[in-house]
Amino acid sequence: MGFIDEINQRTNLQILVNQSMKQHTAYGVGGKAKFFSEAKTVHELNVASLLCEKYKIPCKIIGKGTNILFSDKGYDGLILSTKGIDEIFIKNNIIRATCGVSLKSLIDFSADKGLSGLEMLIGIPASIGGAIYMNAGAFNHEISDCVTEVESISKGKLVKRYKESCGFKYRKSIFNGNNEIIVSATFNLNEGKKESIREKIQSVISFRKTFQPIGRSLGCVFKNPEGFSAGQLIDGLNLKGYKIGGASISVKHGNFIVTDSTATATDVIELIEYIKLKVKKEYNIKLQEEIEIIGEF
Ligand code: EPU
Repeated sequence: MGFIDEINQRTNLQILVNQSMKQHTAYGVGGKAKFFSEAKTVHELNVASLLCEKYKIPCKIIGKGTNILFSDKGYDGLILSTKGIDEIFIKNNIIRATCGVSLKSLIDFSADKGLSGLEMLIGIPASIGGAIYMNAGAFNHEISDCVTEVESISKGKLVKRYKESCGFKYRKSIFNGNNEIIVSATFNLNEGKKESIREKIQSVISFRKTFQPIGRSLGCVFKNPEGFSAGQLIDGLNLKGYKIGGASISVKHGNFIVTDSTATATDVIELIEYIKLKVKKEYNIKLQEEIEIIGEF
């Protein structure tokens, strides 16, 4: 029995063949994945990833594809999206959200329940799995500030880790490259007034509309080097608006690259390399990507 046959026999996953990654990532660029599927249950995630191991097929888990740049050359394996695994559970001030829940849904849900703590993260277009993976943050807040526990699958087994064991650092966690699949996260939030929680959310949304671009972007491309803002450094070199092919540096914020419908992943990577070169030459600072780059360039 082959890979697809066994997946079909053991799960309800629909495996799409030669699926363009353009429609699954926020930049709208990238080549074709040999296999693509959207899991709806943790069982499907688990079985699919174990079968990839058995058949020696590369497997990449994605959430909403809002922080990943896929190569134009495609991906010779299975891209497995967790978007369909989206449940939120609540008990008192404790909320558990599964990996495919969008950060926005979680923040809206918390606001409706009068629970505060995650508001500053509104506008980050991540799924919970993606946000935990990279410890997403903004305005000096990080998702890990409110996390108490993370559940993941490791080699077919469910693992529970308290926050202290998750290795959270600036845009980093133990899950970077450890081959575990994040399944859910538990958050301990504070009671607050619904009105003031909503006001806070609105003010962050307004700030973002003013200072950050809307549309096809992956958020900040580079991590902030210690003591500096990458956006400010890039802006300082008058690079805003600089364009390669269909990819350009946002005119609103230097650390955002935006793409138009003609863009390729190669345009984006060339722009990234150009920015890194300029910043190294002018400031002697080595910028490091915050976004994840998958495939050959
Ligand atoms: N600035 C400029 N020019 C620019 C961009 C920024 O002069 O083009 C200045 C701003 O005026 C401000 C300072 O640089 O004085 C810092 O800018 P900002 O507040 O935008 O913060 P940042 O350090 O550039 C970080 C996060 C963002 C998050 C903002 C919220 C990182 C890499 N970036 O950006 O997160 O939205 O704070 O203020 O940590 C992301 O993670 O995807 C992301 C965009």
